[in-house]
Amino acid sequence: MAERLQKYLSRAGISSRRAGEKLIREGRVKVNGKTVTQMGVTVDPAVDRVEVDNRPVKPAEQKEYIMLYKPVGFVTTLKDPYGRPTVRDLVQDVQRRIFPVGRLDLDTSGLLLMTNDGELANRLMHPSYGVEKEYLARVHDLPSAEVLRKLAKGVKLDDGLTMPAKVRLIKGGRPTSLLSLSITEGRNRQVRRMLEAVNHPVVSLKRVRLGPLTLKGLKIGQWRRLTVSEVKAMKREVGLK
Ligand code: URA
Repeated sequence: MAERLQKYLSRAGISSRRAGEKLIREGRVKVNGKTVTQMGVTVDPAVDRVEVDNRPVKPAEQKEYIMLYKPVGFVTTLKDPYGRPTVRDLVQDVQRRIFPVGRLDLDTSGLLLMTNDGELANRLMHPSYGVEKEYLARVHDLPSAEVLRKLAKGVKLDDGLTMPAKVRLIKGGRPTSLLSLSITEGRNRQVRRMLEAVNHPVVSLKRVRLGPLTLKGLKIGQWRRLTVSEVKAMKREVGLK
């Protein structure tokens, strides 16, 4: 997003905006190698190179950490080629460029983290860090104790055996039951495929937790920024300081 050069300089900690104007007038500021002396020039931090006294200056990128309660019917991308509503549409008030961490299916609701912190995102998505994702699944019929054991131990899918999971029957019944499943992998449609493999297809699916982060307090379609201590907890979870 473009911003005035003085603002860019002040964000980079070079000068106040007023002092920035002086630097510009004095011919000490270059944009993409060209000296700028008039006011009103804007720069896009993502593409433009700014120098003061021939030294590059760059503001530290502000990190953004957002938790969204995704409703069913929104695709987890920034832009959909078919024009369907996206999760980006739900966080329009956020100015910075953020992207979803992992994916929830069109027909899955629940907790979606969005951030511009690529390092944290990569680790959260990588199974080797073992971050738990907990889902509430409403399934057909009443899974037996044997089925629950199977889900917990590992289910054979066409892309291999699933890693151990935590499985809890919250409310057993017929024609449907409610299960909690915590998994550490993130394969495509994994929970749905696991439950299909044991003949208890999913009726509805919601993610309620990502590591230490829960949906508590958010209504469907709402989002909020993580607190400082939540960000710390997420980083700690994947060995970042
Ligand atoms: N597993 C699924 O099957 N779907 C999701 O959206 C997330 C996990």
